[in-house]
Amino acid sequence: MPVKGDVPWPREEHTGAKHDIYRRYLDRWFPILLAYSNAYPSVTYAEGFSGPGVYSGGEIGSPVIAMQALIDNVPKTKGVARFVFIDDDKRCVDMLRKTLRTAFPDRPRSDAAMPVRVIEGTCIDHLEAALDSINAWGQPIFANLDSWGNAPVPYKLLQRLAVNVSSEVIVTLFPQHFVRFVSNLGEAGDEVFGGDPTWRTVNGLAPEAKSRHILTCYRQALKAAGFPYLLDFELIPKHGQPLYLVFGTGHPLGVKKMKDSLWEVDRAQGVGFRDPRDDQAETLFDMEEPQIGPLARLLEQKLRDSGRVRVEELRQFALFETVYRPEHVIRALKPLVDRGVVEVVGGGALRIGSFVSLASASAR
Ligand SMILES: C[S@@+](CC[C@H](N)C(=O)[O-])C[C@H]1O[C@@H](n2cnc3c(N)ncnc32)[C@H](O)[C@@H]1O
Repeated sequence: MPVKGDVPWPREEHTGAKHDIYRRYLDRWFPILLAYSNAYPSVTYAEGFSGPGVYSGGEIGSPVIAMQALIDNVPKTKGVARFVFIDDDKRCVDMLRKTLRTAFPDRPRSDAAMPVRVIEGTCIDHLEAALDSINAWGQPIFANLDSWGNAPVPYKLLQRLAVNVSSEVIVTLFPQHFVRFVSNLGEAGDEVFGGDPTWRTVNGLAPEAKSRHILTCYRQALKAAGFPYLLDFELIPKHGQPLYLVFGTGHPLGVKKMKDSLWEVDRAQGVGFRDPRDDQAETLFDMEEPQIGPLARLLEQKLRDSGRVRVEELRQFALFETVYRPEHVIRALKPLVDRGVVEVVGGGALRIGSFVSLASASAR
């Protein structure tokens, strides 16, 4: 769907934070895959909704961020990095070509070492074909599918990426789009969720539960597509609509690195993030002294569901099932233990090796 207004457009608050996350992650991704031991001969960075590469205030867009991450972090002698950019608005495509020429006036790598394709067309019709034609498959691919949350992301492509070696995807979603248009989208919307119609039951839910339902369904769709490890979170701007990002990878290290990038995000952006599973929807703005309340609630629920659990298992739960880091777990458990809500099985200090459980109701 071509851009409704002018190209380029002003950068929104949450876009700055999103770019910071992309930058921090790609600064890690390119060297891990191309420069460290066991490196691959080549990788591909692909966008299905690339935009013009620049905003009206002069800020750079995700295609420039990605190419800069390669140039800054991988020596010229290491491997091949391909870039594929798709956008269905001709103005964006023309502007992106111009922006890339301006940002990188002396081609930083030869065409053989860094082929770049900028293609006009829809993501659904052109991205997979572009990856075929540039010989991306069989080597790692990072697919950034950053639509305005209202364009179809090809589910078949997600499935193919999930089985491709060391490949990852990050998808932007505006749950409100699905909530608002559920009646119009109908079965056509099912495709986004891998054919599963469960998302449409959103109609019958209380207003505050609707977005969470869409997010849960999308998370499940990405898992069903074949990505075993997911990280999903909402970026909450001070003004404007929240944005939901879902990251899928085949490797636990991918989740760890993406989570590090999330927690290091520049706080000056004034954008917080939120764990979609927290039923009180508390937003975390301070990354250095994070509010630990949402994690404490999630841990309590986990203990309610699972009974006695080793703290190390809760650290893994935090890493793979929440927005928190493993090192936040003991910090979240401590006040629960002090208040007698959680107990250390067999007594003693709270350590990574301890077992914990909910204290029996009578003991509280
Ligand atoms: C959110 S912007 C991309 C911003 C960019 N990723 C960045 O961070 O700098 C979304 C872009 O998707 C494009 N678009 C919308 N629907 C599309 C579709 N079905 N296929 C391809 N591009 C589409 C729009 O023209 C717009 O440029």
